[in-house]
Amino acid sequence: MDKKIDQAKEKIKCFHIKTYNDSETFRIQFLGKKKGILTILFKELKQTSIHERKTYGKIINELKKEVKNKIKIFKLKNDFQNEKILKFDPTIPGESIEIGSRHPISLIKERIITLLTRIGFIYVDGPEIEDDWHNFTALNIPIYHPSRDMQDTFFLCKKNQEILLRTHTSSVQIRYMKKHSPPFRVLSIGKVYRNETISSCSNFMFHQAEGFYIDKKVSFSDLKQTIHYLISSFFGEVKIRFRPSYFPFTEPSAEVDIYCNSGWLEIMGCGMIDPKVLKNVNIDSEIYSGFAFGLGIERLSLIIYQMKDIRIYFNNDIRFLKQFKSEF
Ligand code: DAH
Repeated sequence: MDKKIDQAKEKIKCFHIKTYNDSETFRIQFLGKKKGILTILFKELKQTSIHERKTYGKIINELKKEVKNKIKIFKLKNDFQNEKILKFDPTIPGESIEIGSRHPISLIKERIITLLTRIGFIYVDGPEIEDDWHNFTALNIPIYHPSRDMQDTFFLCKKNQEILLRTHTSSVQIRYMKKHSPPFRVLSIGKVYRNETISSCSNFMFHQAEGFYIDKKVSFSDLKQTIHYLISSFFGEVKIRFRPSYFPFTEPSAEVDIYCNSGWLEIMGCGMIDPKVLKNVNIDSEIYSGFAFGLGIERLSLIIYQMKDIRIYFNNDIRFLKQFKSEF
């Protein structure tokens, strides 16, 4: 008896009902009046002792319930689907779906793209996984250069530490310049990574926008004009200052500050592309010159939306995200 019950159990479990015919076959196989597996078991039960009849009877009854349930579930599902198909009426107006809002970083990204493509920049994307040469060496940051320490990053390959998550979007300059001949005006925006402790003002991942322009006779005043156009489009007529600075890939280099809440706030780095960088990508610096700039999107967003903590961008808090409407 034990063996027969186990076999019946296994068979019930393994039977997959896919159609109405299947459900009928299933029912007959187990509950059919003459040859149903469980029907026969019930008959055999009569020949066992009272004690056995009690325990086995209970088990077989349970199996009977299981069979009936399986058929019921199939029918419910099937009827529901049929009903859905039969009742489908394409003329019924759609239910309103709540539309989400754009992430502030996406809004600012889009705004920068609109502004710069208006003055002849084209938009390109670059890879987030970079090699050492594009991220550092070609940008005039050789292996023992101290500025590498400030941009410590995540290396993807331990043995040969050459593949890394880009620390800035300046690597896109190299990728683009290697493949194209000037003149060009290019913009790229994307994620960059640094080995930083997460705090209200720093994160291991953030977004940068990188712009660069190469042509004959590009000068620092072209750079100033472009930055002025970009910043005043965001903030109106604010005071801007160019503060001398140092980047290995630009000469001269500057940092741009805006006057905000009675203090100067640094918002981007820029400069004239160093002839050594142009040489690394086979552009003749006797004929061509160019400028480049890079700015942190989160920082710009903090100023625009008057926020204090950059962690909120990526906490996925719907209450925060819902506030942003495309106002540009
Ligand atoms: N790559 C720099 C950084 O991440 C920012 C930067 C500075 C970009 C000067 C530039 C530039 O294109 O000219 O700190």
